[in-house]
Amino acid sequence: MSSDPVIVRQPSSKPGLKIPGHIGVIMDGNGRWAKARGKPRTEGHIEGVNALRRMVELCIRYGVKHLTVFSFSSENWTRPKDEINFIFSLLRRFVASDLQKLIAHNVRVRIIGSRDGLEDSLRRLIEDVENKTARNTGLNLHVAFNYGGKAEITEAVRRIAEEVAAGSLRPADIDERAVERALYTSGIPDPDLIIRTSGEQRVSNFLLWQGAYSELVFVEDNWPDFDERTFLRVLDEYALRERRFGGIEAAGQ
Ligand code: FPP
Repeated sequence: MSSDPVIVRQPSSKPGLKIPGHIGVIMDGNGRWAKARGKPRTEGHIEGVNALRRMVELCIRYGVKHLTVFSFSSENWTRPKDEINFIFSLLRRFVASDLQKLIAHNVRVRIIGSRDGLEDSLRRLIEDVENKTARNTGLNLHVAFNYGGKAEITEAVRRIAEEVAAGSLRPADIDERAVERALYTSGIPDPDLIIRTSGEQRVSNFLLWQGAYSELVFVEDNWPDFDERTFLRVLDEYALRERRFGGIEAAGQ
C-alpha cells in the first residue's frame, strides 16, 4: 500500500458518474482493521492516514471541490491518553510530510472544530497550514479535528447571543443564514454525500446542521481499506439517489 503523498493524474471520467461537489467522510474502523491483523491500534491509524492521502488524490482526480474528513471528535477525548497523543502526533506528521505536496497541488486546507484545549504549538501549526494554503483554488480539504456537531451549533448559538446582547443583531433577524455564518463551516457548501466506513450506520455528531439533506452511504470496508474501487462503488450508489431537498422533484443540482 502506497504511503506517497498526493499524486495528481489526469481527471478521471466514467460514463454515468455523478460527482458530488462536497463529500464528507466518517473515517471509521482503523482499530478493527488493526485488530483483525493482530496489530496495535496505532498501526490502524497510520494506515488511516494513508487512506486519507488516497482519498485526497481521488477527490482531485475526479474533480470533487470539497472534502471534509472526521479525524478527531470531541467525544474521542474519552480514549486512552496514549491513543489521543498518537492521533495528535499524526496530524502534526501529516502536515509536516504532506504540506508541500498539498500546496503544489493547489489544495486549500482548513481545520474545523474547537481550538479550546489544544496546545499552543498545535494551534500555531493549524494556523500555519491554513495560511500557507489560503490562496489555493483546487480541492478544499476540511479536517474536522476536535469537532462535534452539537458543540459547533452550541458555539454558534453563543456567538449569536453575544451579537444580540451587544445590540448588533435583532432576534427577529436570526434566520438560517445567520446560524450558518456562525458555524465553523461558514462559506462552505453543505455536503452532498456523507460516507461512513466500517459498517456502522450512524452520523455520530458529524456535520449535524450541514448534513440535513446529505445522501448517506455506508460501506462495510474499514477506513484503511478504502480505495478507488470502493470510491467508485459509492459514487455509483450516489448516482442512483434522487435528491429532492423536501420537494417533489429533483432540485438544487
Ligand atoms: C476511526 O477509527 C478513526 C479515528 C477516530 C481517528 C483517526 C483518524 C485518522 C488516523 C485519519 C487521519 C487523521 C489525521 C489526524 C489527519 P477507530 O479508531 O474509531 O476504529 P474502531 O472503531 O475500529 O476502533
